[in-house]
Amino acid sequence: MGVLEADCTRHIVRMCGDGFRLGWHESNGGNISYRMTEHDIAACEEDFVSGGSWHELDEAAPALGGMHFMVTRSGGHMRSAHIDPASSLGIIELDEAGSSWRLVWGLEGGGKPTSELPTHIMAHARRFEVANGDERVIYHAHCPNIVTLSTLLAPNSRVWTRALWSCMTESVVFFPQGVGVVPWMVPGGPEIARVSRDMLVWCRAIIWTQHGIFASGQNCDDAFGLVHAVEKAAGYYLTARAANGGKDPIYTVSDEQLRQVCARYGLAPNEEFLD
Ligand code: 13P
Ligand code: ZN
Repeated sequence: MGVLEADCTRHIVRMCGDGFRLGWHESNGGNISYRMTEHDIAACEEDFVSGGSWHELDEAAPALGGMHFMVTRSGGHMRSAHIDPASSLGIIELDEAGSSWRLVWGLEGGGKPTSELPTHIMAHARRFEVANGDERVIYHAHCPNIVTLSTLLAPNSRVWTRALWSCMTESVVFFPQGVGVVPWMVPGGPEIARVSRDMLVWCRAIIWTQHGIFASGQNCDDAFGLVHAVEKAAGYYLTARAANGGKDPIYTVSDEQLRQVCARYGLAPNEEFLD
């Protein structure tokens, strides 16, 4: 079959374009990584070229040793990913110790994986452990409502989660664990990678203050849907607040109503964020 025809490639390319059209990927903003299945590897491996040089990760991920990841290119434009996927995307493999990676396909023309690769790998390792291997996609996007809201709300997970849950009834269904919030940090650095990895124990979506969102999902639809839900809720909250002269929205979903929604869907909301 080959990489260009494989399902995983089609899904990731589609995600790049969808995110761009929603305004989440100005220039090279945002990045995606996908932990490939055996089925994906079988579909793609005829195109693999091994023997490239190994690059050490900041922190090893032993549980992910030997696994393959499809990643977006550093500096690549999501808007154009569909035009030349072999240049916009790459497939890397980790060594058996999970401490180094090498390129086996793509990033043609001398590209490098996203500058957030260490953060993605740490996040994959954490969610692999927490979600028993069920989550395969890590998605980072520069969503405008989320970034705007981060100039108004304190960088506090409880404050954010309550704001997002209270203005859109089904927010709590999409993210019953709530959202984590990381205060401003240098993008792509070891600090944001470690703080995000630690938060991913209890949530799947993290707000990077004045930057964007970083989320984990089972597949592209799941990760994209989660980011979309957080972004929509942030938009409702912002619009309502602006329409109310900058004050908090008045008629919102109460804690009791949030509990009723969770009971209806068989979900356990994060009690730390309910009164
Ligand atoms: P990359 O182009 O290296 O993926 O960086 C984009 C970005 O959004 C960094 O946070
Ligand atoms: Zn970014």
